[in-house]
Amino acid sequence: MQDYKRQIVEAADAIRARVASIPDTALVLGSGSGGFAAQMESAVRIPYGEVPHMRVSTVKGHDGAFLFGAVRGRPVMVMSGRLHMYEGYEPKEITFPIRVMQELGVRTLLLTNAAGGVNTGYHEGCFMMLCDHINFTGRNPLIGPNDDSLGTRFPDMSCVYDPALRAVARAIAAEKDIPLFEGVYMQFYGPSFETPAEIRMARAMGADAVGMSTVPEAIVARHAGMRVFALSTITNMAAGVSKTPLTHAEVIETGKRVEAQFTEFLAALIAAI
Ligand code: HPA
Repeated sequence: MQDYKRQIVEAADAIRARVASIPDTALVLGSGSGGFAAQMESAVRIPYGEVPHMRVSTVKGHDGAFLFGAVRGRPVMVMSGRLHMYEGYEPKEITFPIRVMQELGVRTLLLTNAAGGVNTGYHEGCFMMLCDHINFTGRNPLIGPNDDSLGTRFPDMSCVYDPALRAVARAIAAEKDIPLFEGVYMQFYGPSFETPAEIRMARAMGADAVGMSTVPEAIVARHAGMRVFALSTITNMAAGVSKTPLTHAEVIETGKRVEAQFTEFLAALIAAI
């Protein structure tokens, strides 16, 4: 067995030993959205540091634990805090937990992130579900020998974000009066925010929002054959659109401000799928 595959199996075994049953749905929480975790029912918490071969998150505002519990009675596995390439991690390291989910039998993956609004029709504090992405990192988590037991060498990416999940999300947002847009997410490497020229480029290329995560996880999840849904909180308008300098504090602050809506929306989505 390849070393990477062996590590995946060891991590999954360690989790199985501590959790009675593994949900088929997983949720990854991004910057400043750790509050979602608080409303989970009877959650088992496993810090990343206690899972073999798992790296730990170094970013302020990011927790670092798997949670196994329920949301509105529906079992779900949550990653409270994620890993980023800008922390210096390799794409294969940050997508390791997605592989562990695959090994555990997770079939549906919900990804969340904080993003800058490029589309001038957006506003700070609104939400955007991804209908597509642009991988602008120059990296890909599938580079290297392909393990056919994990997925095919050349996976199709023509429909990464599941249309049926998006339809459910659209209906929930309408019912709850939550401002939800649908657009293209472009991932930059980070950790510096983009320049105004880069944001004009992003817009010209078809991006509606920019951020520093999510795309590697989505690629690996599709390689693994999972259904994928992704939601951006537009925590700020992007550089040049926003009149003020961008700060991580603003990202966290906006995330907290819309946390109740975010939590309500995701909980309803999890309960409905
Ligand atoms: N750019 C990149 N990543 C981000 C932003 C942004 O403006 N806001 C939150 N995450």
